[in-house]
Amino acid sequence: MAASPRIQKSNKQDNSAGRQDRLAEFDLHIFVLNERGKGDKPLAQGGAPVLNDVANRFDWLRRRGTIAPSSRFLVRRMLGRLDFSRDMDLLQLGFGTGVFTEEIVRRMTPRSTVTVFEVDERCRAHVVDDLRVTYVEASAETISEHFPGKRFDNIVSTLPFASLPRQVSLNVFSQIRAHLATNGKLLQFQYSLVSRNDLRDLFGSEPEIDFELRNLPPAFIYDVRNGEAPV
Ligand SMILES: C[S@@+](CC[C@H](N)C(=O)[O-])C[C@H]1O[C@@H](n2cnc3c(N)ncnc32)[C@H](O)[C@@H]1O
Repeated sequence: MAASPRIQKSNKQDNSAGRQDRLAEFDLHIFVLNERGKGDKPLAQGGAPVLNDVANRFDWLRRRGTIAPSSRFLVRRMLGRLDFSRDMDLLQLGFGTGVFTEEIVRRMTPRSTVTVFEVDERCRAHVVDDLRVTYVEASAETISEHFPGKRFDNIVSTLPFASLPRQVSLNVFSQIRAHLATNGKLLQFQYSLVSRNDLRDLFGSEPEIDFELRNLPPAFIYDVRNGEAPV
């Protein structure tokens, strides 16, 4: 059963302990715990332990959608498509081990922010310790619940739409549409071109496609701007 979300405030005073201890001391802007995505299946409960374990691992793999973190080549190529010289509120979907967030934090201006949505509680261990980062442990389907009416300047998504349940992808697409500012960019990487039509339908314009070979597996980058497409 899904636990109710908890919001914990940052406590930047205690920097003496290690990263894990600091996390335990709520060393985050906002940390929403254990909220499962609406359209996602609950992990298997009860029944034979081995089958449950297999089901859980399969569910985890499907949500994770890859075997390795993105390479620095993919991260740089993708983020190179944004103008980090300007202040911006960036939304990042899918955190993993934080390779994108680390580079975003390195590039962005002191007045910029990055808000991250990640469902997998194991990723919490890699959280990037920076006051400009807001980490929300919840599905990207729930952006409106956490930031009602907020429009982000740009969105960087690493969600594995090809392996997520279709309904989860559709829910996230409508959240992206609702929370991306006019003229803001959506950057998304995928290992195939299957999401191309979805993104074209979402914004009413053809995404630019880039490709990075030096990634496991090699990845396509979709770059689409939110014009005045029909809602
Ligand atoms: C392909 S991995 C990318 C991880 C990392 N950003 C990278 O590039 O190495 C996708 C990440 O999205 C997360 N994820 C999957 N479904 C999600 C959802 N509905 N909301 C938020 N995060 C999700 C997974 O747990 C996983 O960490």
